[in-house]
Amino acid sequence: MEKTEEKINTSKGTVLVTGGAGYIGSHTCVQLLEQGYHIVVVDNFVNSSPVSLERVTQITGQTFPWYRVDLRNRTQLAEVFEKHKIDWVIHFAALKAVGESVAKPLNYYENNLNATLSLLMVMQAHHCNKIVFSSSATVYGNPETLPLTEDCALRTTNPYGATKLMIEDMLHDICHADKDFTAVILRYFNPVGAHPSGLIGENPQGIPNNLTPYIAQVLTGKLPYLQVFGNDYDTPDGTGVRDYIHVCDLAQGHLQAIAKVQKSGVHTFNLGTGHGYSVLDVLHAFERAAGRKIPYQIKPRRAGDIAACYADPQRAAQELDWHAQYDLDAMARDLWRFYTQNPHGYDA
Ligand code: NAD
Ligand code: WQD
Repeated sequence: MEKTEEKINTSKGTVLVTGGAGYIGSHTCVQLLEQGYHIVVVDNFVNSSPVSLERVTQITGQTFPWYRVDLRNRTQLAEVFEKHKIDWVIHFAALKAVGESVAKPLNYYENNLNATLSLLMVMQAHHCNKIVFSSSATVYGNPETLPLTEDCALRTTNPYGATKLMIEDMLHDICHADKDFTAVILRYFNPVGAHPSGLIGENPQGIPNNLTPYIAQVLTGKLPYLQVFGNDYDTPDGTGVRDYIHVCDLAQGHLQAIAKVQKSGVHTFNLGTGHGYSVLDVLHAFERAAGRKIPYQIKPRRAGDIAACYADPQRAAQELDWHAQYDLDAMARDLWRFYTQNPHGYDA
């Protein structure tokens, strides 16, 4: 008998990554590939570039299929599910700017809700019943107590956060109706940093709203100084306190979810370090990373901001064996490396 060479499949399964070209998605793709998963990416590139996917290949030495598909296009999405047998979906695709969501609420409801409805319907039609969903600490609104546990009250104050809460509700309803369905809801705190290679990172268009890309643009000379929004909060130095988490730690949370969650139903986890850092703490970390002073001016409080927000990450530690590894200096160093290596983002 002729001996045929048997190809051993060492893959742990195939993960569809929606929004995989984006900031958190691209970092998660790297870790999925490095840790033995097959991946398939869908993205419409409304807020990202295919270059980030080329960089994922550059980092990992692995190619993978990706599709320019808007999740709201159910026909095109179904074709992806027909082509690939998907074991898990990690659903990053969404619009994510809080301020823009206040100015253009319908865009946010239309994109984030319709994209998710379409995805869930296509998953159901293809008997795919495992999803990890990107939620946000914004669902907690202004906290009554700190640190925030997953059981704290949910009362977001902006349309972006409302889309996250509505999607969390959808997932609860699906799991109630279909006892075989598994939904992992990950509530991210403030993701920052970049891959240590400096090849992938956050690529914001225009003037950034968030603190760390703004600081990076002051350092590159694109913006003259940091505006510190308020120094009269009830916090150690008067500036706002947040739970900044390195994007690679965050990415690993998704892999832990896929590996550790065995039971169907909804599983909700905070992904934060559990430590709060002030605006000035972050500024000083970037000064250490770049080796120079960063000019700043104290300005009035930003509308809608809260004084402090940080996670209790115990549930993720216990149930997912997930622990953040990177400190604030590493977050600043890695983000600064990405900016110095890519002064124009992913544009040549
Ligand atoms: P990102 O904008 O970098 O990535 C989102 C990706 O989704 C982009 O590549 C975009 O092109 C894609 N996308 C958007 N709408 C789409 C659609 N209809 N069809 C296909 N692709 C679409 O954002 P990110 O920072 O990587 O965030 C990923 C997820 O995490 C989002 O759901 C976001 O709401 C959530 N989140 C982000 C933060 C944060 O501060 N970055 C915090 C908490 C939660
Ligand atoms: C952090 C701190 C500001 C900019 C937002 C979303 C949240 C999540 C993460 C998606 C605050 C201060 C900021 C600046 C400043 N995203 N600041 N000068 O507001 O905690 O969270 O991003 O889910 O939903 O709301 O993050 O980076 O904007 O602000 O002083 O130029 O930095 O006042 O104290 P935020 P942020």
